[in-house]
Amino acid sequence: MPTNPATLIKLKSVTKRFGYGDAETYALHNFDLTVKRGEFIMIMGPSGCGKTTLLNIIGLLDTPTSGKYTLNGKPTPKISSKKKANIRAKKIGIIFQNFNLISNLTVLENVSLPLLYSGFKKTRRLKKASETLDRFHLKNREYFFPAQLSGGQQQRVAIARAIVNSPEIILADEPTGNLDSRSAHIVMEELKQIHSEGNTIIMVTHNPELTTYATRVINMLDGEIDTDIKTVSDQNLPQPVSIRFVKKEEQ
Ligand SMILES: Nc1ncnc2c1ncn2[C@@H]1O[C@H](COP(=O)(O)OP(=O)(O)OP(=O)(O)O)[C@@H](O)[C@H]1O
Ligand SMILES: [Mg+2]
Repeated sequence: MPTNPATLIKLKSVTKRFGYGDAETYALHNFDLTVKRGEFIMIMGPSGCGKTTLLNIIGLLDTPTSGKYTLNGKPTPKISSKKKANIRAKKIGIIFQNFNLISNLTVLENVSLPLLYSGFKKTRRLKKASETLDRFHLKNREYFFPAQLSGGQQQRVAIARAIVNSPEIILADEPTGNLDSRSAHIVMEELKQIHSEGNTIIMVTHNPELTTYATRVINMLDGEIDTDIKTVSDQNLPQPVSIRFVKKEEQ
């Protein structure tokens, strides 16, 4: 049965300015975006058009200079910083453009980190992290440190870390940028699976071939939306499943 998914993310006239005077840059300019639960959005556009800035704002890592950002019906300025940290830890998985792995932790420890906030015991956390790494063919690198991995391997670790606790929202900044086509395929199939379970994905890519995975493709230009095309109607988006990371029996 088709459902009418609820609005999850709403940006209204969001502007992000960096610097002042001669150094002033508008990374986002009067940006309007409404995201329904279960959308898989791909964001494209030239370097510097504001894609990463947009993900940072949606992921509560940065705040707009002006405009409104409402997340799950709540205006974000009204969310306390403690609550924001909690939402980031449990509900949002971010795959950063530059990976952001912690250099003095092993691969396994990096991937298990988001589970710290989910109430799992340590052995359970490491087991889940190990299972997730296995999905990305990285089980034999568990005890390596990030610096001992190739760029593509680091990227896969960063993706494993972002999805290990099954977040409802995944923000991915060029998650396949450093990958060969086989690894890119593995990553896209993982994201497809996560999406089919009713989760929401916003992904930046420069690769037009990947847009076949999306339900909506947005092209940005100079901090604004240039084109916005939905390839799947709202009624036909995957339905959300119950929130899996708080399953009682797993704690
Ligand atoms: N911390 C910052 N301080 C000053 N300017 C910034 C900062 N972050 C981003 N900008 C500027 O905002 C604009 C948008 O940057 P952003 O990183 O969002 O672009 P992008 O679309 O992600 O580019 P790319 O495809 O190269 O990753 C750029 O002109 C950039 O110089
Ligand atoms: Mg960027």
